[in-house]
Amino acid sequence: MVEPAYHIPVLLHDSVDGLNIVPDGIYADLTFGGGGHSHEILKRLGPDGRLLVFDQDLEALQNAPDDERLDLIHGNFSYLQNYLKYFEAYPVDGILADLGVSSHHFDDEKRGFSFRFDAPLDMRMNQTSGMTAADLLQTYTVDQLAKIFKVYGEIEHVGKLLDAIVKARSGNAFERTSTFVKAIETCIPKHQEHKYLAKVFQALRIEVNHELEALEQMLKQTIKAIAPGGRLSIITYHSLEDRLVKNFIKTGNVEGKLDKDFYGHVHRPFEEVNRKIIVPSEAEIELNNRARSAKLRIAERKEA
Ligand SMILES: C[S@@+](CC[C@H](N)C(=O)[O-])C[C@H]1O[C@@H](n2cnc3c(N)ncnc32)[C@H](O)[C@@H]1O
Repeated sequence: MVEPAYHIPVLLHDSVDGLNIVPDGIYADLTFGGGGHSHEILKRLGPDGRLLVFDQDLEALQNAPDDERLDLIHGNFSYLQNYLKYFEAYPVDGILADLGVSSHHFDDEKRGFSFRFDAPLDMRMNQTSGMTAADLLQTYTVDQLAKIFKVYGEIEHVGKLLDAIVKARSGNAFERTSTFVKAIETCIPKHQEHKYLAKVFQALRIEVNHELEALEQMLKQTIKAIAPGGRLSIITYHSLEDRLVKNFIKTGNVEGKLDKDFYGHVHRPFEEVNRKIIVPSEAEIELNNRARSAKLRIAERKEA
C-alpha cells in the first residue's frame, strides 16, 4: 500500500510570499509538520540565511532535511521567545505558523486523533508530556467538559453527551477511540454520525493540546520576537483561532482592545498587509480538502 503524504502544505506560495524573504535573513517556521512551508522558505534563502523550525511532535521533525541553515526545535511555540534567545536568533525577520494538527495526525492509526481507527484515546501532539484525551474525560468536571464541547466543538446541546461521559467513568470506556464512540453512541444524531463525532474529537483535541492558549502566548511574544519591518504569516483553520489572530493583528492584543494614548492616537504593533483574508482557490481545495477552511493573515511589524 502507498503511504499517504505526511502532509500537503496549504496556501504554500501565498503564505511564504507573505514573509517577504530577504536571502540572508532569519526566519522561524513554528509548525514544521511535513516541512512543506520550510522547504519553500529554504529555497528562497541564500547561504547566509537561517531558518529555525519548531514542532512539538518529534515525529514531524524527522521529516527535516540535512541543511546547515536549519535549527530544529522540539518544543511548543508558546515558548517562542526563550527558544529564539537560546538559539541566538532574536529578533527574527519573519515568522510563519500553519496552525493545528497535520494530516499525519489524522492518518496515523495509533495516535487517537481520528474516529476512523481504533487506537488509544491519546490525541497529544507532544507524546512526551501532558494529559491524554482519556485522562481529561476521566477527570474534568462536568462544567469544564460542557465548556469544551460547546466552545471548541460548537455542539449546541451537550446534556446527553455529558451524562454519557459521566456514566462511562466507572468502566474503561475511555481507553480506546472505539470504546469511547460506543459509550456516547446514543447521543449521536441519526444521519449525522460523521459530523457529530468530528466536532467531539475536535473539541477534545483542542483542549488536550491547549491550542488556543499556546496561540495566545505565541502571538504576544511576536511583538518583540519580530524585528521592525519583519513579517508574520499565519494560517488558521477554525473561527476561534482566526478571531484571536485577527484581533491581535488589528490591535496588538487577542481581545481586540484598541490601545490609545492620551491624545487618542492608536498604538498598533503590526500593520495588516492583506486587508482581505486570503483563502485557498477552488483548485487547491479540489486537490486537498483540508485546505477548505484555511484562512491566511499577513502582518508587518511596525517601527517601535
Ligand atoms: C498544520 S501542521 C503544519 C504543516 C506544515 N506547514 C507543512 O507544510 O507540512 C501543524 C504542525 O504544527 C505542530 N504544532 C501545532 N501546535 C504546536 C505548538 N503549539 N508548538 C509546536 N508545534 C505545534 C503540529 O505537531 C503539526 O506537526
